[in-house]
Amino acid sequence: MRFRLSSGSLVDAGKAAKLMEELLRKVKESTSGIRHVIPVMSGKGGVGKSLMTASLALALKELGKHVAILDADLHGPSIPWLMGVVNNSMKATEEGKILPVIADGVSIVSVDLALERKDTPLAWRGPIKTRAILDLLSLTDWGQTEYLLVDLPPGTGDEALTILRYLKPRLGGAVLVTIPGGLVKHVVQKAINFLRIVGAPLIGVVINMAYFKCPVCGTRHDIFGDVLVPPDVRVLAEIPIDPELAKHISRGELREYFRHESAWKRAVIGAASEILKALETSPRT
Ligand SMILES: Nc1ncnc2c1ncn2[C@@H]1O[C@H](COP(=O)(O)OP(=O)(O)OP(=O)(O)O)[C@@H](O)[C@H]1O
Ligand SMILES: [Mg+2]
Repeated sequence: MRFRLSSGSLVDAGKAAKLMEELLRKVKESTSGIRHVIPVMSGKGGVGKSLMTASLALALKELGKHVAILDADLHGPSIPWLMGVVNNSMKATEEGKILPVIADGVSIVSVDLALERKDTPLAWRGPIKTRAILDLLSLTDWGQTEYLLVDLPPGTGDEALTILRYLKPRLGGAVLVTIPGGLVKHVVQKAINFLRIVGAPLIGVVINMAYFKCPVCGTRHDIFGDVLVPPDVRVLAEIPIDPELAKHISRGELREYFRHESAWKRAVIGAASEILKALETSPRT
């Protein structure tokens, strides 16, 4: 049984408004059981958002939570690769509901898992991207999802706006991912200002690639410079650069690496615990 995303079809303006209204109603209904939505974002590309999304999902699962990931990076989806399910496909129920792909107990939803050919590029622009994300949200059977982590592309574009706007009632708060150094300082501030403008809460910042610890002498090297986060923002964790992790990722074996003890894993579990602390004491729980 296959499902159909409505994003490809063209309709006139009046009809489009009606369809959108109907779609938003379905999104509300379909996501009503999700307890906390956590968008993982950054003002900058390549800082480790997708890796952090996948790792936090595994960590929250290990801490006993029901976790799902929505891959909202439509043009550059990396969650299926990171979670080792790149050759899997999402199935649909008789009623046309999407069943996420499940890996190590984490539910995964990505447009990439709906494509018949994995090398098909998506040449979608603004409104169509919004529709595609809303389609995925409304069509998926989210089951008992306590934490929905959303992997976003870099910056503050359509994908981020769609999630922050339409999932507002379910937002636990955003997690910002950054690396140390002066260059990223203003990018972090920009992302923080963006969240303020759209009225979305910020849980805190994860400093990825914060340092490298020499495996021979144990000396800490701050490769990218100092951590420059505004003093009123909570730092959830400082994650080390881990060459062994990078090797596992390039083989699509993040889940295997996560099963073993490492300083990197301890830091990720630390970040997940901080998130739980922040959200499980919030008024909605
Ligand atoms: N702490 C780390 N130690 C070692 N390698 C890392 C670490 N963090 C990230 N990487 C490497 O950097 C790569 C890029 O990370 P990732 O794809 O998560 O970044 P991103 O911010 O999602 O990028 P994009 O902006 O393109 O979506 C990872 O695949 C991994 O190989
Ligand atoms: Mg990414």
